[in-house]
Amino acid sequence: MSPLVLHVTGARPNFPKAAPVIAALERRGVRQLLVHTGQHYDRNMSEIFFRDLGLPEPDLNLGIGSGSHAVQTAAMMTALETVFLDERPDLVVVYGDVNSTLAAALVAAKLGVRCAHVEAGLRSFDWTMPEEVNRVVTDRLSDIVFATSPDALVHLAREGVDPDRMHFVGNPMIDTLLRLRDRFDGSRVVTELDLPATYAVATLHRPGNVDDPATLDRMVAALRRVGDRIDLVLPVHPRGRQQLEASGLFDHPRVHATEPLGYLEFLGLVAGSALVVTDSGGIQEETTVLGVPCLTLRPNTERPVTITHGTNRLVTTEGLAGHVDAVLAGDGPTPGVVPPLWDGASGERIADVVVDVLASAD
Ligand code: UD1
Repeated sequence: MSPLVLHVTGARPNFPKAAPVIAALERRGVRQLLVHTGQHYDRNMSEIFFRDLGLPEPDLNLGIGSGSHAVQTAAMMTALETVFLDERPDLVVVYGDVNSTLAAALVAAKLGVRCAHVEAGLRSFDWTMPEEVNRVVTDRLSDIVFATSPDALVHLAREGVDPDRMHFVGNPMIDTLLRLRDRFDGSRVVTELDLPATYAVATLHRPGNVDDPATLDRMVAALRRVGDRIDLVLPVHPRGRQQLEASGLFDHPRVHATEPLGYLEFLGLVAGSALVVTDSGGIQEETTVLGVPCLTLRPNTERPVTITHGTNRLVTTEGLAGHVDAVLAGDGPTPGVVPPLWDGASGERIADVVVDVLASAD
């Protein structure tokens, strides 16, 4: 039988990263299996992305669902071990920094199955972020690491990763953005909320921002000050939904809540917006390519090229309104240069390396 590549995905940000890799391997005739851990399971956190991105249906959905980090990660590991033993993949490919990524890398390492990590080497150096733990451990366990930016290569080298195992391939999530850009469409939301031509988009879901009531109060006050200046749409992530709804944020006449949106609707809304306020990682990258000013409500970022090359700025709750004023006065971050190799061909580069790796194991 020809070699088997098994992709593990599970949470919303995984899907736009995996789609171009799966498509490029498909074009090369590589045998593949797509496993969904079920970390995200609501229709608009998962299924809608498969439809929007044209991803094949997962071959297996493990249905793990939500839980504490230990409960969720352990349940994924137990289920993935059985899958890897049954399917005997020649290579497991994992994406990003979510718990599904870490669980799959750990199981692959213990079973002696080779593992490739897409989006390796990003570092916030902030150990309070669960994603930072997932990134560092996944990279340490991976046999092949695919980096989206040069700084990631520096981090990996400093951590002792053999240069032969590192590949600078650019950003596959941007492949997806460039491929689907013509189909972005936020018009349904614009119409339903009766938004004016100039509006902003916000997202807020990081545990560091929404789980602690005092921090959430500061976030809500800051977003209300944004609403005093510009209509603000906030697709509400299930994490923190109750707290945000109870906070009174949406009583503000110019702050509008929506359900989480699909890929094409969300990026349509972002592409048409005057600015974005976020604590997400991926959105910092997407706004950089779209040239939309991005104000990131975090003390650090693992994606510094979005600041050095792109439209991203780190802001505090106290500083947010001033940054919004600057953007509205035409004095905000302006479109810079797209980071190197964010050119729509990252999935192809990854697939070329994977094919070489599979051939070298024969
Ligand atoms: C996860 C990732 C985070 C990523 C985010 C994107 C980890 C550690 N975190 O965070 O890096 O930025 O996804 O969305 O993997 N829930 C639902 N429906 C769903 C999924 C989740 O209601 O389909 C609710 C549940 O109450 C759950 C909570 O959201 O307990 C958190 O979900 P979880 O997958 O644990 O982490 P996220 O906050 O989504």
